[in-house]
Amino acid sequence: MIYLYNQNVFNLPRGTRDFTSKEMQKRRYIEEIMRSTFISFGYHEIQTPTFETLELFKAKSGQEIIEELYFFKDKGDRDLALRPELTAPVIRFYVERLQMEPKPLKLFYFGNCYRYDRPQKGRYREFSQAGCEIIGTDSPEAYAELITLAYKILKNSGVENLKLNIGNLTILSSIFNQLKLTKEQQKYLIPLIDKSMFEDVFDALKDFDIVNKDAKDLIELLKTTDIKIVNKFIKNNLAKKELEKLEKILTLLEKAFGIKHFQIQMNIVRGLDYYKGLVFEIEAPILGAEKQLCGGGAYDLISLFGGKDSSTAGFAIGFDRTIVALESENFKFPITKMDVYVIPLAEDIIEKAINIVQTLRDQGFTVDLDLLRRGLGKSLKYASSINAKKAIIIGPKEIEKDSVTIRDMETGEQKLIKIKSIINSIQ
Ligand code: HAM
Repeated sequence: MIYLYNQNVFNLPRGTRDFTSKEMQKRRYIEEIMRSTFISFGYHEIQTPTFETLELFKAKSGQEIIEELYFFKDKGDRDLALRPELTAPVIRFYVERLQMEPKPLKLFYFGNCYRYDRPQKGRYREFSQAGCEIIGTDSPEAYAELITLAYKILKNSGVENLKLNIGNLTILSSIFNQLKLTKEQQKYLIPLIDKSMFEDVFDALKDFDIVNKDAKDLIELLKTTDIKIVNKFIKNNLAKKELEKLEKILTLLEKAFGIKHFQIQMNIVRGLDYYKGLVFEIEAPILGAEKQLCGGGAYDLISLFGGKDSSTAGFAIGFDRTIVALESENFKFPITKMDVYVIPLAEDIIEKAINIVQTLRDQGFTVDLDLLRRGLGKSLKYASSINAKKAIIIGPKEIEKDSVTIRDMETGEQKLIKIKSIINSIQ
């Protein structure tokens, strides 16, 4: 029988990746640093499913989000979607089971996300996020701590060059309202503002019959990194209060949390539709187009999902992009070494060798043994290829003396050691 298959059906799907063991070592190393940083800030890890109801993601973002989603019907005719992010799932979880927990609730997560994005370096269809949500407080210290956590996670991971930008959507939308821009007009402007296409923003404002001075003022506001300039444009009380709060957050960030490098950036609009008030982003400029490592802010989702309203804020760090940023900065990831590689030199020694391997493994050492019976030279070569620190060579001569030969793989130095003393000599 002849099978005619298109080769592509066996290929990796577009936008997804396989990870080699070396890549996984890097990923696990960074994941552990991120996890311990979350924990050091009093956050607790949770997990939610990879797929949710399609409605969960449509509820706030509307039909448009469909373009970005992987969704499907299951065999029970339910509409489901692979999660594009974890904030909506975490708030769904909160509403279903965690509302009675003591506040504030500080939750963190790692999880794969799926977006029907156009793949390129740093942008994938399957990618991983490390993120968190804080529920039950909107105090300036809570928000300053949240921003600090995001920044520290990336710093502790080893990313050197970071840009932290902080904005506020309540202030921005109050200025939109001052200018009497309709929702449609705002919707048109937001992607342009997001991409810092200020000339196009200016042209659009002219098309919307905004007078020259107001259009120029808005562009100045969007470009400024000086909070005093922001103050100059604000007329409404809600926005004034938000600005005061933002100033407190920035003072705490600098004076109490010790984060010196950040800037105000009123053109942060964030891609997602649920934010209000504080928003922030952290970039790794070395990455060029896909430089955003982290995005977050305050948002409202609880009441939409049927829960009792409470303040919510959070952020997510693109895990894969963080690795790409570290690689681009030539970060030296530690090489994982194997403690011992055991080489039995004759068939009747294999059993004894396995006893030694198991005793060492039980003591917590990482140990492998030659399973191919390939002789000393080739086994030693293999031991170096897996970065073994020591090789234990067991031949008939060693067994006669109730001993083994321990070879230091770096220096090549060899010693005959009694079997009962192995543990002491490989510490
Ligand atoms: P987001 O900005 O959509 O926010 O995503 C957060 C981060 O995920 C981005 O800054 C980026 O590093 C990474 N990312 C996004 N899309 C891709 C992709 N296609 N490939 C690789 N990395 C990607 C959120 O998802 C919000 N849920 C964050 C949040 C949490 N807000 C409040 N709480």
